[in-house]
Amino acid sequence: MTPAPTPPVHSALRGHIVTFRGNPFLMPPADALVEEPDGLVIITDGRITHVGPYSETVAHLPPGTDVADYRGCLISAGFIDTHVHYPQLPMIAAYGEQLLEWLERYTFPTERRFADGEYAATIARTFLHELLRCGTTTAAVYCTVHPQSVDAFFTESTRLGTLMVAGKVLMDRNAPDFLRDTAQRGYDESRALIDRWHGKNRQFYAVTPRFAPTSTPAQLELAGALLAQDETLFMQTHLAENRAEVAWVAELFPDSRSYLDVYDRAGLVRPRSVMGHGIYVDEQDLCRCHASGCALAHCPTSNLFLGSGAFRLFDVMDAKRPVRTGLGTDIGAGTSLSHLQSMNEAYKIAQMGGHRLHPVQAFWLATRGGAEALHLEGRIGTVAAGMDADLCILDPKATPLQALRTQMCDSTADLLFTLMMLGDDRSIRATYAGGTKVYDRANDATA
Ligand code: GUN
Ligand code: ZN
Repeated sequence: MTPAPTPPVHSALRGHIVTFRGNPFLMPPADALVEEPDGLVIITDGRITHVGPYSETVAHLPPGTDVADYRGCLISAGFIDTHVHYPQLPMIAAYGEQLLEWLERYTFPTERRFADGEYAATIARTFLHELLRCGTTTAAVYCTVHPQSVDAFFTESTRLGTLMVAGKVLMDRNAPDFLRDTAQRGYDESRALIDRWHGKNRQFYAVTPRFAPTSTPAQLELAGALLAQDETLFMQTHLAENRAEVAWVAELFPDSRSYLDVYDRAGLVRPRSVMGHGIYVDEQDLCRCHASGCALAHCPTSNLFLGSGAFRLFDVMDAKRPVRTGLGTDIGAGTSLSHLQSMNEAYKIAQMGGHRLHPVQAFWLATRGGAEALHLEGRIGTVAAGMDADLCILDPKATPLQALRTQMCDSTADLLFTLMMLGDDRSIRATYAGGTKVYDRANDATA
């Protein structure tokens, strides 16, 4: 007997919808913003089916569907964190060092603990809960060198129904022996993890060489060989974050024209590749990123915390060769999992460089920009019919100060600006992944 088909699951959300019709770095921000002050989003089986003014869209509501009433709040696409290390959550806010010393002193000892699969599962669970508390529904996540750290992460993400990109870190030199693999073992373990997880239940695999100094040329070659087997795979690594690191890479790879070129020679610069940081890159590197479809992750809180330098966002986004760019929290070098805080610091970095980061540009980077960086803009990053229902509900009056400040707001752009400058996890009223409410501030619990 064939089983009876399961009936479709419907839900709906009412509130002030904010999303995008274009890139606000390439067109006037006011034209790029789409908003519906009293809007309705209808969801069936995890996908958005209708978006529009409540008064018109309500006609499409399937009979008996409850409408979650978020009037007074904004309905946005869930935030996308394009660069973050889940195992580093316990060591956030580690004092005093810049990148290379910080890795030795704090990061490597912390990552050692992920040899224990149970510990990894505990931290993966805490990390994903924190992400959802911050309204982030997709992230490109570094695990550790241990395959069990990847299993722990994808197991928990599958349980929640979140769309995640993650992978095992590859390191076969310049790291403590307890965190080193070999080129062949890294290849074999990655291959097995790809077969187990990639493309299953909203989980996607990223081949993850940590950065050029901790991989031999042979390991980078094998990372490229994995990618050559499947164009839907992701790749993530670090690029030109810190001056001492850049000098070290020049010593280790004397034949390469630039740091990016080290990765390019190994076949790692391609669509679905995400390079963390990219502070010390030149015009030729940016042209190569543009042409190849590889992306940069702007990590403002991390770049400030480690004293790494200032990402040249407005150069990177130059209309003559815009580079796909998203925001990354880069926990544990970053200081907050909230992309509202990433936007806050990105604004200040832009100011220091003589640029104005418009709030519509900032929210675009945190949503649609991140989706484009991951080449996932057909599924996530905007609130539109046909997209996955990954949404966050933003409360512009989450604190007494914000309630006071919003009284001065005369535009949606200004409301967004108050959220990005004053907001954090408290601003997230609820988070939806694949149409399911996975976080509700009222009872601060994930599903
Ligand atoms: N470069 C290589 N590894 C890391 C890391 O874990 N964090 C940051 N911020 N930079 C890195
Ligand atoms: Zn990082």
